[in-house]
Amino acid sequence: MTSKTLLTGPLLRYAGDPFRAPWQEVIGIDTDGAVLLQDGHIASLGTRAALIAAHPQAKHVRYSDSHLICPGFVDAHVHYPQTAIIASWGKRLIDWLNDYTFPEEMRLSDPTYAARIAARYLDLTLAHGTTTLASYCTIHPHSVDALFDAAATRGQRIVAGKTCMDRNAPEGLRDTAQSAYDDSKALIDRWHGRGRATYAITPRFSPTSTPEQLAALGALWRAYPDCLMQTHLSEQTDEIAWVEDLHPQARDYLDTYETQGLIGERAVFGHAIHLKPREIDRIAESGAALVHCPTSNTFIGSGLFDMAGLTRQAIPVGLATDTGGGSSFSMLRTMAAAYEIGQLRGTPLHAAQLIWLATAGSARSLHLQDRIGSLQPGNEADLTVLDLASTPAIAQRAAMAEDIWESLFATIMMGDDRAIADVWVGGQQWRKPN
Ligand code: GUN
Ligand code: ZN
Repeated sequence: MTSKTLLTGPLLRYAGDPFRAPWQEVIGIDTDGAVLLQDGHIASLGTRAALIAAHPQAKHVRYSDSHLICPGFVDAHVHYPQTAIIASWGKRLIDWLNDYTFPEEMRLSDPTYAARIAARYLDLTLAHGTTTLASYCTIHPHSVDALFDAAATRGQRIVAGKTCMDRNAPEGLRDTAQSAYDDSKALIDRWHGRGRATYAITPRFSPTSTPEQLAALGALWRAYPDCLMQTHLSEQTDEIAWVEDLHPQARDYLDTYETQGLIGERAVFGHAIHLKPREIDRIAESGAALVHCPTSNTFIGSGLFDMAGLTRQAIPVGLATDTGGGSSFSMLRTMAAAYEIGQLRGTPLHAAQLIWLATAGSARSLHLQDRIGSLQPGNEADLTVLDLASTPAIAQRAAMAEDIWESLFATIMMGDDRAIADVWVGGQQWRKPN
């Protein structure tokens, strides 16, 4: 007989997209909730009494009223190789890449170091409640193996790809159009769809890929259309001016990808802050997703993502740390930063919208919404249980709260890894390594 685990306590439920309908109509909390985990999946949902009665033999894990059972957090854009250079001071994007990022990515030429960073990164992010992430690796194929291997050890669903760069990067961090194609293809054959792995074809961004490399990766995507394609778009104004210099014939930044076949439903564009009207229209029409990286956008000084405007166009949007341009491994901190950017734009997001973005929204941006990101029967059993009174300051604010949404908001704004009570990955409880 397969083992069953029953989690009971306040439970977060989604019935739709809180950017397409009033959040109150599509997001709710079952205060007396229960979720049954079986064979790595969510077997059923219901009330505590009903599921206890139906599954008396299940192992029962009770969470108190000051907890919230959520889908595991999904971080839709990260660079795991930048784990050790997070919080590097004083540069904007291009200098930050040259001075901090590329030297560190070079260090991952050592497979042992890559494996150590991958393991450390996944443990750090699991401790912060992140069960799935979409990561750029380095140009070295073994950096992709390192992450997928570390994820398989932990039973995690991961999206990743070899970062491709054939110009404007130092010697030792450049591939070619042909080797990027060949290496990415070999990695797709090795990993895509194996266990819980999804491959994302990954040109870093137009400044570091020649049109020939972008074209080669466009051809690869056509050959493997169920892979994702992730890249960066319109993050900083200096970067956009550089793209205009490098591609004088292009209509805009997006066009440098579009003309090479790098736009479509499974495209995932990180940042997308300074978009032109044509780019927004084209993204909306294509079905491509955008990923908001708020701590990165303030840390590197990039700008304020237009969440309200872009979601109004029905563009799928995910949420991400963008480690290590982002200044935190925590999706709670990332939700807080998204709230702050919303405030600066005059469109504050509700706690329900923030947590939806960090789970279902990110899952949808990665085309994983039928597997993860929401607590639904049939989905994989990746869950994060929040303690909504994890520190004296948060507990004090929660004691004043009129409802659980106010408590959740205090945890979003002030919580850290102490707010992560438990993490369940594929139905198994994740335990911190000693
Ligand atoms: N644009 C191209 N590469 C990167 C990166 O590593 N981080 C960020 N934030 N932006 C990028
Ligand atoms: Zn990035």
